Amino acid sequence: MSRFGSEGEDIIGRWSEEKLDLLAKYLKAYSVIMNEQKKSWLRAYYYIDAFAGSVRPRAKEDEQRYIDGSPLRALQTEPRFDGYWFIDVSPRRVERVQHLREEFPDRVIEVRQGNCNEVLRNEIVPRLPYSSMQRAFVFLDPYGLQVDWETVQELANTKTCDIFVNFSVMGVTRLLPRDQDPDPEVVEQLSQVMGSTDWITQIYREPPGIQLDIFGNPTEPASSRDTIQAEWLARLYTEQLRSLFPHVSRPVLMRNSTNSVLYSLCLASHNQTAIKITNEIFNRYERLRDLGE
Ligand SMILES: C[S@@+](CC[C@H](N)C(=O)[O-])C[C@H]1O[C@@H](n2cnc3c(N)ncnc32)[C@H](O)[C@@H]1O
Repeated sequence: MSRFGSEGEDIIGRWSEEKLDLLAKYLKAYSVIMNEQKKSWLRAYYYIDAFAGSVRPRAKEDEQRYIDGSPLRALQTEPRFDGYWFIDVSPRRVERVQHLREEFPDRVIEVRQGNCNEVLRNEIVPRLPYSSMQRAFVFLDPYGLQVDWETVQELANTKTCDIFVNFSVMGVTRLLPRDQDPDPEVVEQLSQVMGSTDWITQIYREPPGIQLDIFGNPTEPASSRDTIQAEWLARLYTEQLRSLFPHVSRPVLMRNSTNSVLYSLCLASHNQTAIKITNEIFNRYERLRDLGE
């Protein structure tokens, strides 16, 4: 559940801060490698934040504490990116993001207000063909199911863009009713986000035997779904990504304070080393998290 502060900024839980720390760690490694490549073939590399957010969200456990959101994590990364794209659908948030140009006057910052699926597909993808010898890191961090599979496909087809996705496991499970087949609109919505919906038929099953109503008459057989395992859904999404990108990391599950899985984070890349680094960062994070429990 999203909460907002008095100025419309996000109030975020511990797990969101951990997500930002994982992002920062990977950005550092990515930028060091890319900067090295600039000495030979690479012309430029960019950071693209498709869901830029409120720039400085507040911590849930102490609302006086501000946290650096994803655009700041990218701007703080050294070596620097050649350029930064920040997109958000909210005009109020875009206004905050625009202030980053004054805070970081020596950076090339492009800001767009709108649906990131359109901005990515119509404006950004066409600028990054393989022949451009440029690369980009795209952070996809929606609240729910706002990333279209078609956008992921187009980003993968560039062969220049890697994506770091925060996939809403909770957003998917919430859409699937427990004791009846999902409505066709829901199936359509899920196929827009996950690329395929074949898996839905696997998780819905016929009830055992014939059910009787209170008068003892047989009822229409209804489907029911087994409890969806968050790990399974997270893996399913990474498998889908594997059909588009040559290399995909393992997913790391992001849990709230009551240990429910909210999201799963993973990297899909054109480079194998990027995956090795991400898996190491994820493994270290999980080891420390388990020790803290
Ligand atoms: C989870 S927040 C992003 C947080 C940010 N990445 C951070 O870590 O600080 C999601 C953001 O996506 C924006 N948003 C929602 N739907 C969008 C869309 N279709 N395109 C672009 N931005 C969208 C919201 O206004 C919100 O700021």
